[in-house]
Amino acid sequence: MTRRKFAVLGAGNMGTAMAHALAGNGHEVAVWDFFPEVIQDIRRHRVNRRFLPGIRLHAGVRAMTDADECVAGAALVIVCVPSAFVASTLAPVVPALEKDAVLLNVAKGFAPGTKEPLVFRLKRLAPDHDCVHLAGPAIANELARGVPTSVVLASSDPRAARRVAEWFTGPSFIPSTSTDVMGAALGGILKNVYAILLGCLEKLGGDARNLEAAALTASVHEMAAIAGAQGGQPATLYGIAGLGDLIATGFSRDSHNRKFGQLLASGKSVAQLEKQLGWLPEGVRATAVVCALARAQRVPAPLAGWVRRVLGGTPPSLDHLLRALRASARTAHLSTSD
Ligand SMILES: NC(=O)c1ccc[n+]([C@@H]2O[C@H](COP(=O)([O-])OP(=O)(O)OC[C@H]3O[C@@H](n4cnc5c(N)ncnc54)[C@H](O)[C@@H]3O)[C@@H](O)[C@H]2O)c1
Repeated sequence: MTRRKFAVLGAGNMGTAMAHALAGNGHEVAVWDFFPEVIQDIRRHRVNRRFLPGIRLHAGVRAMTDADECVAGAALVIVCVPSAFVASTLAPVVPALEKDAVLLNVAKGFAPGTKEPLVFRLKRLAPDHDCVHLAGPAIANELARGVPTSVVLASSDPRAARRVAEWFTGPSFIPSTSTDVMGAALGGILKNVYAILLGCLEKLGGDARNLEAAALTASVHEMAAIAGAQGGQPATLYGIAGLGDLIATGFSRDSHNRKFGQLLASGKSVAQLEKQLGWLPEGVRATAVVCALARAQRVPAPLAGWVRRVLGGTPPSLDHLLRALRASARTAHLSTSD
């Protein structure tokens, strides 16, 4: 395989893990971060102690203080910052991109203030470049430890997706490609909402696989219905970019959204948790947008509605959650007998 140069903008938990894994494929990977001390730390210690402690980074990872230098010569530029910072991170480096550089969006969220998944925003910021979206269950800490990870590379141009899939092929990744950009992008956003629900359920329902299986399955039905109404293919949501990602996020100890759900169910309010943790998981903002999308398309979404009410201050109770699950079961029954 030809050794290529890649760039990662955002050496957070995921950006650092991806750089490490892609360097393991034999590529040279330059990383840049908003916080100069993160770059200094990687240079001095070969470890990103703030965002990926305990992992000695592959020799092929180079930490850069200048974002333009980071993207210079890169065939692939990976944008790996939280949704709120994607535009402010990418826009200034667009003039420095190589003419044929492919952009890869890793952020799982809507562009701030819109109902549009971020990958579409990327395309508008850099219209001359192919844009690919990364979906699927890819928990950074596991990827960094070398756990083989399935990713879906989605692009309206199948050649761009295949090119990126080739670069990803190696010990850490099991890549596949898709042209269903909307479905793949919504899978990664929607699962955060339902991971909050699964986190709550773990506290409210106790040791209850029957109930977890019911909630997981109903969540995927709801995800497929919402994504389908937005122009995504429901089948994408029943695959690794939807169901697969929800299983990882809804049940992983590393998942911020699941953990947040557990804490909500233990009686803490969103405001208390934000103060205590210093962050809100991406599913919190996504829930309001997802419910608005469902309402606008007249898609019944009782489970997302339950999460929205809990985030809004209604005390989470198993009774209310069961009511939402029963409503969801009625909806599934109606749609299959129509
Ligand atoms: N962590 C995961 O397991 C995982 C998996 C898949 C996708 N993602 C996606 O990757 C993206 C990054 O998530 P993460 O978990 O690596 O985040 P993180 O919390 O570990 O890192 C935060 C990142 O944001 C950057 N940042 C903070 N303030 C900034 C600012 N004002 N301007 C620009 N950058 C700023 C930091 O420098 C750092 O790179 C998210 O969109 C997330 O959805 C994460």
